Amino acid sequence: MYLPYLLFPFALLPSLSALKIATSLQWIEHTPQAYAIQYFYKGSSSATLSSGGVANLASDSSIDLAANAETQGLKQYANHKSIRLIYIITEVSYRLVARSSSPANVQSLADLKGKKIGSIPGTSAAIFVQRMLASAGIGDGAYSIVSGSVCMKAPCGSGTLPAMLKDGRVDAFGIWEPAVELGIRAIGADKAIVFQNATTYREVYSLYTTTDKLSDPGKRADIVAFVRALDRTLDVYNHANASVYSFVADRVGMDAEVVQAVWADHKWSGTWKDDELMPLLVDEDEMLAKSDRRAPMSRAELETFLDTSVIEAI
Ligand SMILES: *[C@@H]1O[C@H](CO)[C@@H](O)[C@H](O)[C@H]1NC(C)=O
Ligand SMILES: *[C@@H]1O[C@H](CO)[C@@H](O)[C@H](O)[C@H]1NC(C)=O
Repeated sequence: MYLPYLLFPFALLPSLSALKIATSLQWIEHTPQAYAIQYFYKGSSSATLSSGGVANLASDSSIDLAANAETQGLKQYANHKSIRLIYIITEVSYRLVARSSSPANVQSLADLKGKKIGSIPGTSAAIFVQRMLASAGIGDGAYSIVSGSVCMKAPCGSGTLPAMLKDGRVDAFGIWEPAVELGIRAIGADKAIVFQNATTYREVYSLYTTTDKLSDPGKRADIVAFVRALDRTLDVYNHANASVYSFVADRVGMDAEVVQAVWADHKWSGTWKDDELMPLLVDEDEMLAKSDRRAPMSRAELETFLDTSVIEAI
């Protein structure tokens, strides 16, 4: 066992230039990265996904890329100005499901006043709920937020939002998929009303790196290769068939049929239009600045956050 190691001293060691990507591994949103690595990535070495997110870019210099919703991106960028958003993996129009039947009797967003609404505080889901209710004139104090967890596959356990909607612990809940789809199914589509508005809120699940990584020529070449592979993946996702739904279902522990049912809520974008993304970032940063007790960032600072040089190079 010792001899091969002596003959090939580097053969058993990971390459120093492997691309390291920190991302959630539980959600549909992350799966294009796994698909890109499996089918398309041709960098100088391997690429690996590890559990984490954009916060790791700030705390661990061995991480080259990270994926997260724009909410976490903005929170980190506020304190680490070297972070850059370089690609949009997916934009997800979250849904809020409410019980339209007794006892909640929700027929419109305005009916959510005074209700118990499930979500996960501190995440993009909480921002979504806050923005949806604000769009109907319902302020933060005029409803209660009840914390619950997600469910990826039925049957959903007792602490999950679909189970809480079913037994009346919440009147409604809003979060990323597939929990909302499973919540609708738990109470029956005829007893559910669904609210969704991509203008009011959509998750902008993005890929991030740092200026340090971008200014290292070898690293930049691998980042470009990875984004090129992601772009080919988004093309596959935009023309998804049963084998793609199964790939995604296997990665995140869902049923392929449920993946297909929520597919249309995900837009596999890649790039962005400044006039569509900037207003969302400016607004959201103002909200986050309040809850994080800091000054909002200037428009110029938010523009520096967005770096199109990698997309332009693919
Ligand atoms: C979505 O929200 C926008 C702004 O928040 C509003 O102008 C628009 O009417 C809403 N669309 C629907 C279908 O409610
Ligand atoms: C489904 O899509 C994948 C990826 O584009 C492709 O390789 C495969 O041939 C397709 N399968 C069918 C049955 O069309």
